[in-house]
Amino acid sequence: MSIPTLPELSNYQTRVNQLLADKLDALAVNDTKLLEAMRYGLLIGGKRMRPYLVYTTGLALGAEINDLDGVACALECIHAYSLLHDDLPAMDDDDLRRGQPTCHKAFDEATAILAGDSLQTLAFDFLANHTFSAFGTQKMPMLLKQLVAAAGYQGMCGGQALDLSATDTQITLAQLETIHQLKTGALLKASVTMAAECAPKVTEEQKISLATFAELIGLAYQVQDDIIDITSTQEQLGKPKGSDIEANKSTYPALLGLSGAQQKADHLYQESLQALARLPYNTDNLAQFATFIVRRTH
Ligand code: IPE
Ligand code: IPE
Ligand code: MG
Ligand code: MG
Ligand code: MG
Repeated sequence: MSIPTLPELSNYQTRVNQLLADKLDALAVNDTKLLEAMRYGLLIGGKRMRPYLVYTTGLALGAEINDLDGVACALECIHAYSLLHDDLPAMDDDDLRRGQPTCHKAFDEATAILAGDSLQTLAFDFLANHTFSAFGTQKMPMLLKQLVAAAGYQGMCGGQALDLSATDTQITLAQLETIHQLKTGALLKASVTMAAECAPKVTEEQKISLATFAELIGLAYQVQDDIIDITSTQEQLGKPKGSDIEANKSTYPALLGLSGAQQKADHLYQESLQALARLPYNTDNLAQFATFIVRRTH
């Protein structure tokens, strides 16, 4: 099965990378080591899937690209911070990320923790200090509300905590689904729903279909992450293969077997396409993104 190319991917990657780099360049250098660790965690590698989803969704719905910039950067900062902390010895204890030593290996643990903390607040800097349009400015409370819910206790952090407590134990499929929805699904869902907030013409009913699409692909993203931990190579992954099994993590393949996990990803994919079909916009690129998720090998 071939992996589809994502339309405009390299343009959006270049765009968001430039904005992220500019922001770090503009920070006063109080602590060179911390800033270097932030740069390392934010700028070296990364597929930029959350920004991709923000731009692809927002532009399909008629949002202004300048407003999407603030949202895309904020979400990527939260994602980057989540990875720095996810790799720490107290969490997944991984040595390799994006083909490079993890941040705490390249620097030290305290610096990786603080770089994560600083990238988290940088996300809010992106929302607070970006020059949004009048419409985007009006939407700021809603954007903040969604980012906070996706990143914090009710979202990614809560999911990470449940993931850790599910390690070395047997959990139910329903519990695993909740973990995946929170730890990975929440930020991906926010990428779609925050982009939709930036589009003036989107109705409440359409937002519901978009949120459903986003929940399905957000979950599929982590199901596929569990699958490729087994099926891809370290070279493809940029991180060690089989680390979930070694760490005795609760994953879809662990609960359903590899083919059961693949069926689950495919089912989520089909359902996500049905949600998209309810929308009166050209959603071809979002459908392509859904296909990419279930076929990706890294
Ligand atoms: C990896 O995320 C961790 C998960 C939340 C599944 P990505 O697969 O988006 O990682 P990068 O940013 O491209 O490295
Ligand atoms: C990561 O899940 C989720 C977050 C960082 C929020 P994983 O622990 O499965 O991600 P990888 O496999 O280390 O990239
Ligand atoms: Mg983890
Ligand atoms: Mg991990
Ligand atoms: Mg994983």
